[in-house]
Amino acid sequence: MASRASLTFLSSIFFFLLSLQLCAGQTSNVKGVYWFPGSEFPVSSIDSTLFTHIFCAFADLNSTTYEVTISSSNAAQFKNFTQTVQQKNPSVKTLLSIGGGNAYTEDFAAMASQASRRKSFIDSSISLARSNSFHGLDLDWEYPNTTEKFTNFGTLLTEWRAAIAAESRTSGNETLLLTAAVFRSSDYYSLNYPVQAISNSLDWINAMTYDYYGPTWSPSSTGPPAALYSGSSGQINGDAGIRDWIQSGLSANKIVLGLPFYGYAWRLVNATNHGLFAPANGTALTADGSIGYAQIRNFIRENVTMAIHNGSVVTDYTYYGTTWIGYDDTQSVSTKVSYAKAKGLLGYFAWHVGADSNWALSQTASIAWGS
Ligand SMILES: *[C@@H]1O[C@H](CO)[C@@H](O)[C@H](O)[C@H]1NC(C)=O
Ligand SMILES: *[C@@H]1O[C@H](CO)[C@@H](O)[C@H](O)[C@H]1NC(C)=O
Ligand SMILES: *[C@@H]1O[C@H](CO)[C@@H](O)[C@H](O)[C@H]1NC(C)=O
Ligand SMILES: *[C@@H]1O[C@H](CO)[C@@H](O)[C@H](O)[C@H]1NC(C)=O
Ligand SMILES: *[C@@H]1O[C@H](CO)[C@@H](O)[C@H](O)[C@H]1NC(C)=O
Ligand SMILES: *[C@@H]1O[C@H](CO)[C@@H](O)[C@H](O)[C@H]1NC(C)=O
Ligand SMILES: *[C@@H]1O[C@H](CO)[C@@H](O)[C@H](O)[C@H]1NC(C)=O
Ligand SMILES: *[C@@H]1O[C@H](CO)[C@@H](O)[C@H](O)[C@H]1NC(C)=O
Repeated sequence: MASRASLTFLSSIFFFLLSLQLCAGQTSNVKGVYWFPGSEFPVSSIDSTLFTHIFCAFADLNSTTYEVTISSSNAAQFKNFTQTVQQKNPSVKTLLSIGGGNAYTEDFAAMASQASRRKSFIDSSISLARSNSFHGLDLDWEYPNTTEKFTNFGTLLTEWRAAIAAESRTSGNETLLLTAAVFRSSDYYSLNYPVQAISNSLDWINAMTYDYYGPTWSPSSTGPPAALYSGSSGQINGDAGIRDWIQSGLSANKIVLGLPFYGYAWRLVNATNHGLFAPANGTALTADGSIGYAQIRNFIRENVTMAIHNGSVVTDYTYYGTTWIGYDDTQSVSTKVSYAKAKGLLGYFAWHVGADSNWALSQTASIAWGS
């Protein structure tokens, strides 16, 4: 019979091994980025050495069966996605992202409202992730906007986590990652995300700390699209959103800060009045004014104009004639990533990889975070 001391010794080894096991399944930092086929940026051109996680966007939601599907036009690229990005970085992880900007809003709500539909969604998502060699799943439901939808969102996450854990026990495969892209925890429709279910069920949230100002929804003045801090008049900003999540009870190390690799172009009312919050009249350059970072660099170079950094709100802008563009340049990205690290966040992610200019923002972010 073993002595009490050796039992204690054995049990401490057991708990040591158990904690190693738990650590092995836990993500220690996230340098993330989204890719989507519409960007026409080849998957094989992604410099995956600059990232730890790459999100492949988007899988679809069938409104009849409530199953997750990959459209036939994306099937070949998605199937080969993990293998392709792992050629340059064998340890990079991939997640299949479901939904996307305003897509399937009502279908997500209908799906989450009934147990049998949730089961179709969850089971199909897991088998789709496995059959396409993804390491995880990412929910982009933009956005639940009633009390009932937020409750069902929480139920969905709880059941999804249980199914993912069960599948891993059965298959012996590494547990799939589970994440969601979210707005701020409260103040959105004056409602709250189910923070406890999020905390228990998700590996992390991608906080979409951008799109605060844009020429289609704030057309009458320019603005910092993704300011980190408020100006003197208390404008919406990323820091307030992050603090809101932490205050609501989510641990900082489950929060990943969003960086836009794009900006928005406004039409100035008067070319000589070209600061932040200058009078404007809607979009410039593109239908919704959105413009990728590489194109912004071209705009600056070809028009021989300059970029202005505002370090107190953390944004950049440039203008030429009556075209005004607000965006994040390297200095803003560096400040934001340092902020994320100092706050104890899990990392950062960017939308989207194809918009970068010769890896300038991706490199800046990776260096600012460190290893
Ligand atoms: C949804 O699934 C049903 C049944 O498999 C199928 O007939 C339908 O075409 C699908 N809808 C879409 C939009 O793919
Ligand atoms: C899949 O990716 C590999 C590696 O990048 C490539 O050699 C192969 O041609 C790709 N296959 C398809 C069907 O795209
Ligand atoms: C919630 O979102 C749906 C779909 O976008 C919209 O039709 C509805 O009016 C919104 N409800 C509220 C309360 O904002
Ligand atoms: C899952 O595990 C099986 C063996 O248990 C293995 O053949 C397969 O490649 C694994 N799949 C993934 C996606 O890891
Ligand atoms: C930065 O922007 C804020 C908000 O508009 C403004 O109050 C501040 O003066 C600006 N700082 C500089 C250095 O221009
Ligand atoms: C544009 O702004 C300048 C400087 O504020 C002013 O002198 C000029 O009259 C304005 N032009 C128009 C058309 O409002
Ligand atoms: C904004 O643009 C519209 C249409 O182009 C024009 O009618 C209107 O006068 C403009 N408003 C200002 C304040 O310049
Ligand atoms: C230069 O500015 C003009 C006026 O805003 C714009 O139409 C053009 O696209 C810009 N050039 C580039 C290369 O972006």
